[in-house]
Amino acid sequence: MNSYIEHSDFFKGNDIEKLAAEYGTPVYVYSEDIIRTRMEAVNNVITKYDYTANYSVKANTNLEILKLALSEDINCDAMSMGELMVLKKAGFPSDRLFFVPNNVPDEEYEYAIDNDIVVSMDSLSQLIRYGKLASKKGKGFECAVRINPGVGAGHSEKVVTGGKKTKFGIAEADIPKIQPILDEYGLKLIGINQHIGSQFLDPQPYLDAVENLLRIARGFKGLKFIDFGGGYGIPYHKLDDEGNYPMEDFKARLLPILDAFVADYGYAPLFKSEPGRFCVAEGGVILGRVNAIKENAGKTYIGTDIGMNTLIRPAMYDSYHDIEIIRDGKVVPRENMSEASVTGQICESGDLLARDRMLPEAKEGDLVCVLDAGAYGYSMASTYNTRPRPAEVMICRDGSVKLVRRRETYEDLMALF
Ligand code: LLP
Repeated sequence: MNSYIEHSDFFKGNDIEKLAAEYGTPVYVYSEDIIRTRMEAVNNVITKYDYTANYSVKANTNLEILKLALSEDINCDAMSMGELMVLKKAGFPSDRLFFVPNNVPDEEYEYAIDNDIVVSMDSLSQLIRYGKLASKKGKGFECAVRINPGVGAGHSEKVVTGGKKTKFGIAEADIPKIQPILDEYGLKLIGINQHIGSQFLDPQPYLDAVENLLRIARGFKGLKFIDFGGGYGIPYHKLDDEGNYPMEDFKARLLPILDAFVADYGYAPLFKSEPGRFCVAEGGVILGRVNAIKENAGKTYIGTDIGMNTLIRPAMYDSYHDIEIIRDGKVVPRENMSEASVTGQICESGDLLARDRMLPEAKEGDLVCVLDAGAYGYSMASTYNTRPRPAEVMICRDGSVKLVRRRETYEDLMALF
């Protein structure tokens, strides 16, 4: 594919140069169309049984994106009280939220209990602490636990969340210790959840994990829901024609696993999944400006204003993001390419968006467009080097452009002192 932004009509005819000038660079740009399409797809993973996709909002908590989830009938998972607060602000009722934190203080559990939001406990010690709080408040007795299924997978060791080497969930060996704690505090276990890791394009590890969790679920009576976690991948190498997550194949292979469980368990509890990246990654790009071109020891560096403060994934996980060059509002064709590294303006040698990448020639003043930045982009952005975080804008379905978060100002940064 020569250009994803042309292929997907990402900007819906809006003048890219004008957009960059109006909102400044770097700027996150989202596509309502793409995000809605992905949310619709995850909402139809299971149709035969009761099912909800819970958008894992850590991927992107922009208020307008949460409102899209609300209108697409997607429920949401939150990791923190802050995420719960922004979900409430977006208009989510409590029964569409699931709180799956780890190692949080009483205050966060109390917020969930006061707001009638179901909580999953990540450890036995948290289950005890939660039990005490629910007893004190006389509510919030229905709860869930996160199981560590003993296996994990993912695009980087840093995103593997199941297995012996991770901090997450209650190990299978500790499951017998759950019921006595529930009994002591009058708690009722209504659900179990897991999340083994992130960014699978091969559905097999996820299907194995589903089977494994259902095996464990057979040991719990009366569950109202079973939550298989997130992880569906997206093609980060789309300009090299990497394929999409094979959703139809995945659904076809998932169904018999569920059928076998339901036949055994006697009824079908509500099944849930927790996709984050799949819902929003491809619906977001970053526009940045080329401020300098440098040759050093035979290598070319394209110096932009998109640093690791704006997108940390390449520095943190060695993640790959496709990059398009835009000149005078038009994508520069992928012809006459040569090797270059694309860097930001942060004072670290790890501040590289792309290392030794084949790219069309870039010139000072061009725009770069970093693809697949809708997930774990802005939500992991920082003010490192005392740089304000960028604005976020949405290209709406009707082609109009909406500012959905203003750029942070230097005054915002100073105001905290
Ligand atoms: N559920 C739980 C409990 C999670 O911890 C996560 C992600 C998800 C669901 C959503 O996973 P997804 O569908 O997005 O793969 N910052 C990393 C990804 C970290 C994911 C952490 N947990 C990255 O940029 O690749």
